[in-house]
Amino acid sequence: MTSPIQTLSAYEILDSRGYPTLRVVATLKDGHVGIASVPSGASTGRHEALELRDGDMSRYGGKGVLKAVSNVNDIIRGRLAGMAAAPQDAIDAALIALDGTENKTRLGANAILGVSMAVARAAAASSGAPLYRYLGGNSAARLPVPMMNVINGGRHAQNSLDFQEFMIVPHGAPDFAEALRYGAETFHALHDLLHKAGYSTAVGDEGGFAPNLKTIEEACELIVAAIRKAGLHPGDDVAIALDPAASSFAEDSRYVFAKSGNKILTRDELLALYDRLTITYPIVSIEDGFAEDDWDGFRLQTATCGNRIQIVGDDLYVTNPRFIQKGIESGATNAVLIKLNQIGTVTETVKAVQMCQDARWAYVISHRSGETEDTFIADFAVAMGGGQIKAGSLSRSERLAKYNRLLEIERELGSVAVYASPFLKHGAGRHGHSPT
Ligand code: PGA
Ligand code: ZN
Repeated sequence: MTSPIQTLSAYEILDSRGYPTLRVVATLKDGHVGIASVPSGASTGRHEALELRDGDMSRYGGKGVLKAVSNVNDIIRGRLAGMAAAPQDAIDAALIALDGTENKTRLGANAILGVSMAVARAAAASSGAPLYRYLGGNSAARLPVPMMNVINGGRHAQNSLDFQEFMIVPHGAPDFAEALRYGAETFHALHDLLHKAGYSTAVGDEGGFAPNLKTIEEACELIVAAIRKAGLHPGDDVAIALDPAASSFAEDSRYVFAKSGNKILTRDELLALYDRLTITYPIVSIEDGFAEDDWDGFRLQTATCGNRIQIVGDDLYVTNPRFIQKGIESGATNAVLIKLNQIGTVTETVKAVQMCQDARWAYVISHRSGETEDTFIADFAVAMGGGQIKAGSLSRSERLAKYNRLLEIERELGSVAVYASPFLKHGAGRHGHSPT
């Protein structure tokens, strides 16, 4: 039997935006320790599990997490102390039962997830396995292709771009280390191009540049030019992925481009815009192209473009098996964004991934805009084996920490490590529509 949990303790730390979040320390009777820090979003889906904040305006503008901290120290510790640290589903079932609400509103999904991740880490340490192997078994050897958010807009930057994320995807690299180099060299090339064009090279929440570009097309043009300047081939070596995060600019079933001058698009016009963009630029994936309640928008896009690009639901599903089931039944997308803190336990997140696997859908393990130096998602992406991670740009150490952890895992796996593009079947490769 895995060693029992001796104690749990939580405390308030700060995330990459300077806002409070939790760190949880799980100590086992055998002396092994697991430590985890909880991420936090800015463009959150309406149905996400509850992130418990104090609302005490005398501290951190109400964003303190001392209630969640005391829920770990006073309530969860009492229930979990003495329980075996594995299996993880028993730990998570105890947490879910102790909370007893649909959306983890009593204890807070941040308190619950911090414990869930810390216990997983402690159990992995106790078993002598690295976290990716503890969670993914001996066959876990696939390094994820990163989606790197090099131009930030929407709620992640104070600039003129309504789309939240323009990402580069170095899917044609031979291994993860080279993929990281492709990404970083493209990022640096983009820096020089922006600088030369007189744009700001300051960065947004996820480490991408946040220039006041005039149009979405200009962002895509600059990325293609940066890929070329880095000596790489757009489409084949490095493709583009978008996360418009359309819930953030949806108003009464229309889409209002308020940051770039108030153009208003209908669902059909937005669909046509995506169509044009994917034909003109080497785009392999679009996430949250429509608002979280616009299921018809997603369905239409998947029906018309799902055979050539990946259509990802993030706010649409909030990593919740209930919504993912609805998406699978209705053919709303062909992929799911997976965020541990949207649902609140490791086990429920694994279940969401398994639903994707059963439906032969793709899935992308993702960070949040508010991150910490915790690298749990790097191990988790390898453990889940889906071959995709979204972990931010090539600057800001909370983003690089994930990539650096993946380098470490790739070295540790040695010759059994696999790096393979999930996109060739979507037509982005040599047979696809790479621009000339
Ligand atoms: P968030 O955004 O972490 O600010 O919610 C990330 C995303 O929309 O993918
Ligand atoms: Zn998103």
